[in-house]
Amino acid sequence: MRSISSTGCSRFTNSGGTKKPFLQMGPPDPILGVTEAFKKDTNPKKMNLGVGAYRDDQGKPFVLSCVRKAEALIASKQLDKEYLPIGGLGDFTKACAQLALGADNEVLKSGRSITVQTISGTGSLRIGGNFLSRFHGGPKDVYLPKPSWGNHTPIFRDAGLQLKAYRYYDPSTCGFDFSGALEDISKIPEHSVILLHACAHNPTGVDPKIEQWKEISEVVKKRNLLVFFDMAYQGFASGDIDRDAWAVRHFIEQGHNIVLSQSFAKNMGLYGERVGGFTVVCGSAEEAKRVESQLKILIRPIYSNPPMNGARIASTILSTPDLRALWLEEVHGMANRIIKMREQLVAGLKKNGSTHNWQHVIDQIGMFCFTGLKPEQVERLIKEFSVYMTKDGRISMAGVSSGNVGYLADSIHAVTK
Ligand code: LMR
Repeated sequence: MRSISSTGCSRFTNSGGTKKPFLQMGPPDPILGVTEAFKKDTNPKKMNLGVGAYRDDQGKPFVLSCVRKAEALIASKQLDKEYLPIGGLGDFTKACAQLALGADNEVLKSGRSITVQTISGTGSLRIGGNFLSRFHGGPKDVYLPKPSWGNHTPIFRDAGLQLKAYRYYDPSTCGFDFSGALEDISKIPEHSVILLHACAHNPTGVDPKIEQWKEISEVVKKRNLLVFFDMAYQGFASGDIDRDAWAVRHFIEQGHNIVLSQSFAKNMGLYGERVGGFTVVCGSAEEAKRVESQLKILIRPIYSNPPMNGARIASTILSTPDLRALWLEEVHGMANRIIKMREQLVAGLKKNGSTHNWQHVIDQIGMFCFTGLKPEQVERLIKEFSVYMTKDGRISMAGVSSGNVGYLADSIHAVTK
């Protein structure tokens, strides 16, 4: 009798060959692969600072009280489990757009935008990428800041867009390269797509200041670029949802018809619920209807319609005054705990006698700190200290707690002295 492996399992391997199989082993994901390596480590002091996932000060995954309360409320209603519409839960998409744009935004009042529910931020970016690949009239080039979130490149590449870059981060200051960014943006071919991180830039934690955003908006307007905002951290940067949405609202006010991705993974801690939104701001309500029809055509063959649980939780929180107030408090609390950890990390490094300037650790904002650690230092941190992070030296500050910040400072000092 033939074994299963000799019949069914060899389709992706060349037969009888000394040749390399055409389907080769792929590398682990640069961010999620860090968690896989971390899980295998038996060191009790190990720290996972790879993926951006918030932990409480005991180092435990944190479910927001507003989420628990919303879940109880939803459960008490004994709702059905029918399919959602292709574009998602109406209450959610409305609340999602209002959160980003501000409830009294003219765009929402005049109906000249469309928001669909997506599979968190990644799903939103991908639907956006697919949409632009199919319908964007200008060059199919998307300009990413250098560096950008590791998943942006494969998302847009797989959507059929060409990846380009503009300067963003200046390693010599560990800050924003404003003049470099402006110079590069002013040379982008007209009507191309530019991706901007709305707040809490990932991976650098470096955001433009308000005056700098204003200038960027002007240059982007002169080049007639289509702005794709990625807002994965609304509330997480400053603790204030309106402040963090400032750039998005300013660009719209300045006449940019942007597209926008939102995620509720971080700001509501709904990571595994996979809930987000994709919004297209259009020239008119009639255009928005046409865009909506094409988004539905695009979504239907991918996942048919989105899951309901996370959308129900998020919309319940956003539309129930008590829960919304509690959420605002909790998001503020998460942002503050991260800011505190930044300060304690720097204090720990100084206490160790580190002579480096670690001010950028405090100045950077949001979940991540782009430490400036070199690849060989990162490797030592992983191998000798079981402190896991992405190869580029990014650490998720959300994984640092009062209990392990000292160990982190000692470890970083040991590899940088
Ligand atoms: C991160 O950058 O760690 C997060 O956005 C999570 C992810 O999916 O990569």
